Amino acid sequence: DPPNLHMENTASVSRLNCRAKGGAAGFRVAVLGAAGGIGQPLAMLMKMNPLVSVLHLYDVVNTPGVTSDISHMDTGAVVRGFLGQQQLEEALTGVDLAIIPAGVPRKPGMTRDDLFNINAGIVRTLSEAIAKCCPNAIVNVISNPVNSTVPIAAEVFKKAGTFDPKKLLGVTMLDVVRANTFVAEVLGLDPRDVNVPVVGGHAGVTILPLLSQVKPPCSFTPKEVDYLTDRIQNGGTEVVEAKAGAGSATLSMAYAAVKFADACLRGLRGDASVVECAFVTELPFFASKVRLGRIGVEEIYPLGPLNEYERAGLEKAKKELESSIQKGVSFVRK
Ligand code: NAI
Repeated sequence: DPPNLHMENTASVSRLNCRAKGGAAGFRVAVLGAAGGIGQPLAMLMKMNPLVSVLHLYDVVNTPGVTSDISHMDTGAVVRGFLGQQQLEEALTGVDLAIIPAGVPRKPGMTRDDLFNINAGIVRTLSEAIAKCCPNAIVNVISNPVNSTVPIAAEVFKKAGTFDPKKLLGVTMLDVVRANTFVAEVLGLDPRDVNVPVVGGHAGVTILPLLSQVKPPCSFTPKEVDYLTDRIQNGGTEVVEAKAGAGSATLSMAYAAVKFADACLRGLRGDASVVECAFVTELPFFASKVRLGRIGVEEIYPLGPLNEYERAGLEKAKKELESSIQKGVSFVRK
């Protein structure tokens, strides 16, 4: 039998199980790739989220340590660790939300597409297990290239007969988080008061900040628009270069992933007006502003009025997106 990694000492195990089952308003969340650079802080922040009653941490390495460590935090969620493929199905059984930060990150000089060969297979394997064990769960895909890994997950779910476009979301929240930060800097505002819609996809020119729709309403000089667009599109590369070979964004990504997961859980709980940007599978695949609810994506908002600069950006984005989507689809179909 695989080792028991549930990290619950025998004396407390039955009470924890009771708590996990009884957990009145809590959701069950699985993090796949939980021992990684993103996975660890993401797991920690999810353990702090009051909407989570059970937190499953899965990875192919090091989950015992991460699970033991995080399980000592005196917050509500019960934490369980799962190590290696033979425990994947157990990790996914009964979960309401599966978050996927598994896969290799970029090094300087790499594009997100350079990660395709390794991460495509990882996302396919994890999606197959989701289709089998928790076909109704909301799925948040973080693994890059998101523009291709979300189509991969969609194809796997279609093959399995479990595809629900309302439940599969690519996480583009970090682009929004960066956009809010950089725009706030330019405007001299608190980033918490700024909201920048970012649509399209999650790589280079497919990242399309809609600076004409920033809240609070404001205007930018053409120079500011160029600076902000470039910085938002290349924010990830900025971090990759600063880390100089030690990986890509992990801490800000974990923050963004939890901000997004929390929105999904608030939607599931039935909160009204939960609106965020995410890479969704309709139209056919495109990051848009969406309303999250009890069944996942309940509404996809139209792009709204774009200015000429944004319309040109959209054309560029569409072209690159199309080939990234096709690459993901053919990976599963071939
Ligand atoms: P990392 O290498 O630090 O961690 C990845 C983890 O995935 C490792 O613990 C590894 O053991 C695990 N893993 C590998 N194969 C697995 C499998 N088959 N099943 C489960 N776990 C597996 O990488 P990091 O920095 O955490 O990045 C993870 C991914 O997130 C990368 O693909 C990266 O490009 C992407 N990313 C996405 C962003 C976004 O905005 N969507 C932003 C930043 C990174």
